[in-house]
Amino acid sequence: MTKYDFDTVIDRYGTYSDQWDYVQTRFGVANLLPFTISDMDFATAPGVRDVLVKASQKGIFGYTHWDNPAFKGAIAGWFDRRYHVAIDQDAIVYSPSVIFTLAKLLEQFSQPGDKVVTFSPCYDAFIKTVTSNHRLLLEFDINHGVDWDKLDAYFAREHPAVFLLCNPHNPLGIAWSGEDMQRIVELCNAYHVAIISDEIHMGVVRHGTVVHSLAAYFDQLAVQKAVISSAGKAFNVTALGCSYALIPDARDREEFVYGLEYRSALSSVPYLGMLATIECYSHQEEWLNQLCDYIDGNYATYKSISRTSLGWITRFRPRLTWLGSIFRRWASLCRRCSMKWFMGRKSPSWTGGFTAMAGPIIYGSIWGHQGARLKKGCGGLLAP
Ligand SMILES: Cc1ncc(COP(=O)(O)O)c(C=O)c1O
Repeated sequence: MTKYDFDTVIDRYGTYSDQWDYVQTRFGVANLLPFTISDMDFATAPGVRDVLVKASQKGIFGYTHWDNPAFKGAIAGWFDRRYHVAIDQDAIVYSPSVIFTLAKLLEQFSQPGDKVVTFSPCYDAFIKTVTSNHRLLLEFDINHGVDWDKLDAYFAREHPAVFLLCNPHNPLGIAWSGEDMQRIVELCNAYHVAIISDEIHMGVVRHGTVVHSLAAYFDQLAVQKAVISSAGKAFNVTALGCSYALIPDARDREEFVYGLEYRSALSSVPYLGMLATIECYSHQEEWLNQLCDYIDGNYATYKSISRTSLGWITRFRPRLTWLGSIFRRWASLCRRCSMKWFMGRKSPSWTGGFTAMAGPIIYGSIWGHQGARLKKGCGGLLAP
């Protein structure tokens, strides 16, 4: 079996990397160790790179059709093998990015002024996307676990149009159990709430973690529903512009595709993005398994550092993703204050401070770094 290399540190400077090249632009300070953008610093699987190189050598990058058996079959095969769900290939549609899909489905499943419930803390793009599309975002606090009775009462009181589930949950790293999913399905049915499940982080899991795609519950849902995802996070191919949605209802799907192809004039998939998705999902599962093992190792290192030197970290509990969550004691600080606090932290000698998403929970792509960088970077960065 091929043993993949996750140790070689790749210099990402000079690649227009949002994370590494634009620190000064984004934070007004240079030389910070950035943990803000959620992409990994590992190179994608060699097999994916080879497919892209081969296609590039042909030199043809013309308009490309997404509705084909290779693309849909690769996604269906992945859900079958990885998540044990048989999905109807007709339900699959291409979309350029997961958050683009979210924006379009919000337009479809709700009206301006409608309420959208999501668990809080939540991925910051959820906030921007819901509110800038003139929907009211209601954040249901799950910092201390989900109080299901309270959620039931919340749905009854607020009459939301949509429930936006982050599955697994970013930033808390919660893998929803089958029981949790069942409760969510029942609540959505009982209060006629459409559901969108963002499953982009489902590929990277801690050893032994079981995940549950909403696709397994489609038959039980009597409301509008969709899964939105891509190979982007698990295989580090986010900038290739290819994601997908599972929309089981034919009318909802037709409306989505009409919106994509006519209103948004996006009928062609980026060729390399589609090839990468096919390759990741068809042939690169072993690479992903080894990546998960490696990240488990990073997590263990991080945990031991935190025990010894991190007075200000209160808990870690991610069951998946390579995102690290650092819970500050002074959780009441506002987002801007906490950002400033983090930027002032001592960090390795080659950086002046570090960046992280601001808020009561600070998180970033902590485990998505090569071992050397994790030890050198985070080790220094986490010194008290
Ligand atoms: C939960 C979640 N959904 C979606 C995205 C972004 O996906 P895309 O770049 O395909 O819009 C991220 C990126 O961090 C994320 O954490």
